[in-house]
Amino acid sequence: MIVCDNTQRRYALHTAHTTYQMAADADGRLLHLYYGKRTDAPRTIAPPHNDPGCWPDLLPQEYPAPGLGDNHAPFFAPEWSDGSRAAALHFAGAEVCPAQEVLPGLPSFHTGGETLRITLQDPQSLTVTLRYTVFADCDLITRSAVVENTGSAPVTLRGVPSGVVDFARKDLDLITFDGAWAAERTPFRGPVRPGVQSIGSVGGIPTHAHNPAVVLCAPDATENRGDCWGLALVYSGNFRIQTERTTAGIRVSAGIEPYGFAWPLAPGECFSTPELALVYSEQGLGGMSRCFHDAVRSHLLRGRWRDLTAPRPVLLNSWEACYFTFNEEKLLTLARAAKTAGADLFVLDDGWFRGRNSDTTSLGDWVADCAKLPEGVPGLCRKIKALGLDFGIWVEPEAISPDSDLYRAHPDWALQIPGRDTLEIRHQYTLDFSRADVREGIWQQLTALLDSCPVRYLKWDVNRSLANVWSAALPADRQGEVYHRYVLGLYELQQRLVDRYPDLLLENCAGGGARFDFGMLYYSPQIWCSDNTDALDRLMIQYGTSFFYPPCVMGAHYSTVPNHTTGRTASVEARMAAALSGTFGFELDLTQYTPEQLDELRPFVDFYHAHGALLRTGTLYRLCPPDGGAAWAIAAPDGSEAVVFASGCVLDGRSLPLPFAAGHHAYRAAMLATGLEGCTERYSGESLAVHGLPLPALRGNMPGFLCHLQQED
Ligand code: DGJ
Repeated sequence: MIVCDNTQRRYALHTAHTTYQMAADADGRLLHLYYGKRTDAPRTIAPPHNDPGCWPDLLPQEYPAPGLGDNHAPFFAPEWSDGSRAAALHFAGAEVCPAQEVLPGLPSFHTGGETLRITLQDPQSLTVTLRYTVFADCDLITRSAVVENTGSAPVTLRGVPSGVVDFARKDLDLITFDGAWAAERTPFRGPVRPGVQSIGSVGGIPTHAHNPAVVLCAPDATENRGDCWGLALVYSGNFRIQTERTTAGIRVSAGIEPYGFAWPLAPGECFSTPELALVYSEQGLGGMSRCFHDAVRSHLLRGRWRDLTAPRPVLLNSWEACYFTFNEEKLLTLARAAKTAGADLFVLDDGWFRGRNSDTTSLGDWVADCAKLPEGVPGLCRKIKALGLDFGIWVEPEAISPDSDLYRAHPDWALQIPGRDTLEIRHQYTLDFSRADVREGIWQQLTALLDSCPVRYLKWDVNRSLANVWSAALPADRQGEVYHRYVLGLYELQQRLVDRYPDLLLENCAGGGARFDFGMLYYSPQIWCSDNTDALDRLMIQYGTSFFYPPCVMGAHYSTVPNHTTGRTASVEARMAAALSGTFGFELDLTQYTPEQLDELRPFVDFYHAHGALLRTGTLYRLCPPDGGAAWAIAAPDGSEAVVFASGCVLDGRSLPLPFAAGHHAYRAAMLATGLEGCTERYSGESLAVHGLPLPALRGNMPGFLCHLQQED
């Protein structure tokens, strides 16, 4: 619900449990008043804020502008034709729109409730429209800004935040989700320091280093209680999220990274920022995550795969089984083994196209290598289908190898700065996706591939960050558009893909999880989490990922031991627990398995088929954070059913209280763990909630435990 009081110039956004308040002061400044627990009481502005001579630095502002007394580190940065970079944004009006407006060319949470539009005006003819949409059911508020040049002279935007939140308190912790290849999204928590702290990317994609999402929380906030605010960008390119602690409080600003960004606005032109998603929860980090999970499932995913109760295929991906070395016979043997293990879909990963026997060549030439696939992709697809499996394939559409026919034909299609060496990473360049003609060339190849046979699944990978960012299609004074236009081009192509192939299951991937964000989830209902499938490391990677993203979108596969990335060994159950907590699939050479070993995998596939809808739609409870082991549960919203997972050192005989267990019901627990296969127990809900579920004490290298709980009465 939105309260738009234009008489008092007070504005409030209400979700089921939260409230966000703003007001315009006597000087026309739009002040941020409150974001927290639901209340109908308007917050009164403290007396110093009514003082017309008040120093703007002390004011909690809704969309701060630089150069006229606000000495915070500026984010909004319009540059006028006289070279000045100041702005004074004055309140000019507010209105409620019954329906959410679409952001042109950008992903967004959708099917929300009302939208509040607040207009701010700079006297030199710039209008900023702040848009807030309320998703009451999941305590989500989204915001974005549209900047319009209403004057007669050009203006260049050198920084445009999607949103700014001014907190009146200084004692907040900041949690960021950082890492590297094979170690993505590890949470780091610490007090917000005086001055500026920021995370971001200048690599054109978010990269492995930082996820475009942060949590601000009370220092005493825990998994289950305490004030937590989550902020996440719905964007897949360069970004910056910065905190600035001053004497007045903490300002958090989020948006496109200003480096490499300069967007000229001719008179009459507009620029729309990507969306910023906000959640507040007083129920700790777990409560905050559950709001984001509901929001992703109900308001971000789209199309056929949005129905999470419908079965999702169990896939086998060929990468760790074959890498670049295979022929059709090997693939078919692997597919047969996958079928025996219970898989539904076979994915042919990298290495299938002309001359691609290593990572040094051929990206951009999306035609089958006849030496490996004598009857091309359609021939392989036909044979895979004859085995009773669906077929999927890998592509890296944004990439071009210097050694490729595409590069020989169109060297100018690669991003490169004239006169400089073009940087190769993984022996490849990046295509200039800001250019429509380049995208069209790739689109023609993609559609030829996807129209050639029934492809059910597509893995869209990108294996490097951007460098040498310069476009041959734009003049010198417009090069500051390239990074963002690249992202818009990526979105446009993925939108075309989902429009033309509505049944295709698209999985995004970026050398593991370097582009795991809300923007990509608008197009693909799952994203590959990490190239690291080690059961121990996955505990941290998937734990960190789960702060904003629900388990059902996390690409997770059961792989071999010793693990190809870490060399470590883990039990079948621990590896299965990690994979079953995500999209579930296999990624190992099952041709090396005996029929008996393949049979041993069946109970887990059966488990997935039996409980897949619960795993995708259920509510996540992080029971023990990762530290040599972890435990977590996915429960039906009414607590009638749940799956509990545990692995590593938490399997020491302890009992785990289950917050979702309903006291007045009895539960039947069916276990899946070494030595406990087929074991069932009965527990009262009260006992599970108070004393906890007794975990077995299991020894050995990374043990694992899975348990399905079902209410009996
Ligand atoms: C990186 C991905 O994360 C892997 O799963 C695999 O697809 C390789 N690229 C292929 O080059």
